[in-house]
Amino acid sequence: MSLIIVAGLLAAVTAVAIPVSADTQATPSDGDRHPRSQPLVIGHRGASGYRPEHTLASYELAARMGADFIEPDLVSTKDHVLIVRHENEISGTTDVANHPEFADRKTTKTIDDVVFTGWFTEDFTLAEIKTLRAIERLPAIRQHNTIYDGLFQVPTFAEVLALRKELSRELHRTIGIYPETKHPTYFREKGLELETPLVRALKRADLTSYSSPVFIQSFELTNLKTLRKEFKVRNKLVFLTSASGSPIDDDNSYAYYTSPQGLAKVAKTVNGIGPDKGQIIPRDAAGNLTTPTTLVHDAHAAGLLVHPYTFRAENDFLPTNLQREPNPADYGRILHEMDIFLQTGIDGFFTDQADIGVLARDRFVGTRQGEAVAGG
Ligand code: G3P
Ligand code: CA
Repeated sequence: MSLIIVAGLLAAVTAVAIPVSADTQATPSDGDRHPRSQPLVIGHRGASGYRPEHTLASYELAARMGADFIEPDLVSTKDHVLIVRHENEISGTTDVANHPEFADRKTTKTIDDVVFTGWFTEDFTLAEIKTLRAIERLPAIRQHNTIYDGLFQVPTFAEVLALRKELSRELHRTIGIYPETKHPTYFREKGLELETPLVRALKRADLTSYSSPVFIQSFELTNLKTLRKEFKVRNKLVFLTSASGSPIDDDNSYAYYTSPQGLAKVAKTVNGIGPDKGQIIPRDAAGNLTTPTTLVHDAHAAGLLVHPYTFRAENDFLPTNLQREPNPADYGRILHEMDIFLQTGIDGFFTDQADIGVLARDRFVGTRQGEAVAGG
C-alpha cells in the first residue's frame, strides 16, 4: 500500500471527529456540523493486548495508557444483569470449565445462526458469574497475558461505569464509555432484552445526554432504532458493519448499508459507523493492503463518523506486507498500519493496544515533536 495513494485520498475526505465533550443536541446526521477534533483511540475490550479482555484491570490499563474511550461488550445474566463479555458463551474467557458445580450447564445453542457448545451467561445468576475468573482468550498469541489467568472477576456494566468515573477524576480527563449490545435480538427472545438495563445504567451514571462521553454500538440497526425511538436515547449511536453478511434481524446486507444509499438511510438513526477496517482498505489475496474504498468519504458525506475495528500489533493480525517474520505473536509494523488508516480520514479506531494507538494518533496529528510520521 502506497502512502502516496492514501495521501491522495486524504485530500478528498473531511474528518468529522468530535470532541468527547461536544455539547450538541441528539440529532442524527449531524456529524459534518461538529468541530474537527483529533481521532479517538478506543480501548478495545480495555487494553486486551496486555490483560485478559473485559476485566477492570484491562479497562483501567487502557485508560492509564491514554485511551479516550474504553469498550465494554454487553451480555445478560439469568437474573437480567448486564455483564461484560465479548459473547455469552464464556468457556474461552473464563475458568467455568474448571468449576464442577457448573458441569451440568454445559450445552449447545445456536446464536445468530452459529452453533456453540459451552456455558452461557443467560444460564447463570450474577452471583454465580462472580465465582468465575477471567482467562486470556488468545494464550498462543498473548502468552504474557496468561500470568493474569484466574485473578480477575467478570465485571458488571455498572462496575465499569463506576471505574470510568473514578479514573476520569483521578486522571483529570474524561474517559468515555463505548458499550456494545451483543446479540440483542437473541437476548430479547430469551426475555432478557438489553435495552432496559443499558438505559437504566446510563441514567444512574448520569450519562444520558448527547454530550455525554458515550457511544452505543451494535451490529443490529434495529436495536439502535429501538434505542433511539422507543427508549428515546439521546446518546450518540454507532452502527457496526461487517465485511460480509447482514444484521441477523434484517434483510439488507452490510454491503448495502455501507453504500451511499444505505449510509443515507443509516444516518437517519445513528451518528456513526464502526466498519471492519477491511471495508476501508481491503486486502488482496496475498493479505496485503490495497487501495482505499470510498467508504470514509461516503460516510462523511452522509454526516456519519467512522470508527473502524480492530487494530492489533501482533504479526498474526497485520497485513502481510506489514508483518515482521517469523513469530505470529511478535509485533509487526502496527504504527505504519495505523498511520495508513488515519490518512484515510477516520474519526477514531478500536485497538487492543491503547498505548500504541495513542502514539500513532499523536504522531498523525503532529503533537509529538521531532518524529517522522510514517514510521513503525
Ligand atoms: O465493537 C467493535 C468491535 O469490537 C466489533 O467487533 O467482535 O470485537 O466486538 P467485536
Ligand atoms: Ca465490541
